Amino acid sequence: MSVRQKLYEGKAKILYVTEDPDTVMAHFKDDATAFNGQKQGSISGKGAINCKISAQLFELLEERGISTHFLEQVEPNQMLLRRVKIVPLEVIVRNLAAGSLCKQTGLAVGTVLKHPLVEFFYKNDDLGDPLLTIARLLLLELATPEQVEQLREKALLVNEILSEFFQNRGITLVDFKLEFGFDSQGELLLADEISPDTCRLWNQLETDENRRVMDKDRFRFDLGEVDAAYQQVLEKVLSEK
Ligand code: TMP
Repeated sequence: MSVRQKLYEGKAKILYVTEDPDTVMAHFKDDATAFNGQKQGSISGKGAINCKISAQLFELLEERGISTHFLEQVEPNQMLLRRVKIVPLEVIVRNLAAGSLCKQTGLAVGTVLKHPLVEFFYKNDDLGDPLLTIARLLLLELATPEQVEQLREKALLVNEILSEFFQNRGITLVDFKLEFGFDSQGELLLADEISPDTCRLWNQLETDENRRVMDKDRFRFDLGEVDAAYQQVLEKVLSEK
């Protein structure tokens, strides 16, 4: 299928239209940003690594009954996707305390949460992607109450599947971000990507709190060996348990 013009360029991916109006081509970039674009850089090989990891995880989730936008990986850093209208929410699931949860609540990093926590952030760069209350989300009509429950249920199911998958490979899924979108038939699909850019992943063989980090926190906090960590996640994802 020949690729036509650019539909959208984000921080980590470019979307191109294709001959099929219901299909888009996603090109995964090596570019990396953090803190709402304030920190910028590049992670060597990231595009292809994140593309492959996302493809594998979307396939796993599809096998387990979760509808996603993923169709097919066509190049090392390109995949065909069903075109969706993205819901402007970042759905975050947390199993252990880290990141903004620690900053905003004082919980110690690594505190195991009694139950997974689902949070909704407003996907809006101009506002810095703020944490929403359900009341604010409804006020802004970003989703209906029924859709909020659907998103929460899907996110928790994804968490169960991915937590077990990573656990079997010696990795703790600390937290992650999901995005969803509606296709032309009105079906709610899991969208965007699932990769070390969008998950916190800790190597269970490492106890040191910097050495265990296998995700974008290595880039965010200048921990070094970012590309090696991403590569290691890919190898684990591709390995049999
Ligand atoms: P947070 O602790 O900074 O709120 O991040 C929670 C999770 O969401 C973490 O796995 C990183 C991921 N995330 C993104 O994928 N994109 C973002 O813009 C942010 C802020 C976090």
